[in-house]
Amino acid sequence: MSTFLIGNWKMQIEPAESAALASAIAREWNGEGVTSSVTVVVCPSHHAVAGVADALRGMPVELGAQDAFWEDKGAFTGEVSAKSLAAFGCRYCIVGHSERRLHLGETDAMARRKVEAIMRHGMHPVVCVGETDEEKRSGKAAAVVIGQLRSALAEIRPVGNQRILVAYEPRWAIGTGRPAMPADAAEMHQLIRETLFEMLPADIVNSQCAVLYGGSVDSGNIADFLAEEVISGVLAGGASLKADEFVRMARIAADAKRRIE
Ligand code: PGA
Repeated sequence: MSTFLIGNWKMQIEPAESAALASAIAREWNGEGVTSSVTVVVCPSHHAVAGVADALRGMPVELGAQDAFWEDKGAFTGEVSAKSLAAFGCRYCIVGHSERRLHLGETDAMARRKVEAIMRHGMHPVVCVGETDEEKRSGKAAAVVIGQLRSALAEIRPVGNQRILVAYEPRWAIGTGRPAMPADAAEMHQLIRETLFEMLPADIVNSQCAVLYGGSVDSGNIADFLAEEVISGVLAGGASLKADEFVRMARIAADAKRRIE
């Protein structure tokens, strides 16, 4: 499977800026003689999805969303369905991001319903898991992360060659400029992989699941994360908001992949 570089733009930029950023990323990355070894995905805000979809048409950058609601239709004020995001061309969808867990009270049960809807509409979920600083200090990190993973993916099965991506994002590393040590992240990735093997058939884990790291990744440290064999890509927030920085990361990811192969 390819290495993944996913940009989470959060609520940082407006629709016009999002479309312009998508165009700039796609233009620069396209000019690179891109190989299929790195899958580049950008996740704008919902109201920017249509404009970004237009900007990316025919370009080697995939469209993702930051969240999706589980019902297809109904009295759910303020929500946007996985169904409509898929119809707008989203192929990936982040779910259970720690900022949603923190600010909106999103639970593991909600994440599970969202994963199901995202997959029912043919998108690939990017399931975020991660412990808080306090949980890490009290030695609970592994239990928290594995608990989140088991809940979000309970009885989930991909259809066809649908992918399941898991992003390990320790909360204390998000937006802090204080990334995890790559070796520590790799240890958690190994545990996540072992859990995936307990939950899903081995061939699916080997060919359709990938575990990504997220939390203060940029062009200066991405190579260190990708040098760990169990880390199959990264989810970047701040560093995905500048086209040149994000494309630099994509190039480094392509080089790292070449070295491994
Ligand atoms: P960051 O965010 O790269 O700005 O730390 C990552 C994320 O929240 O997905």
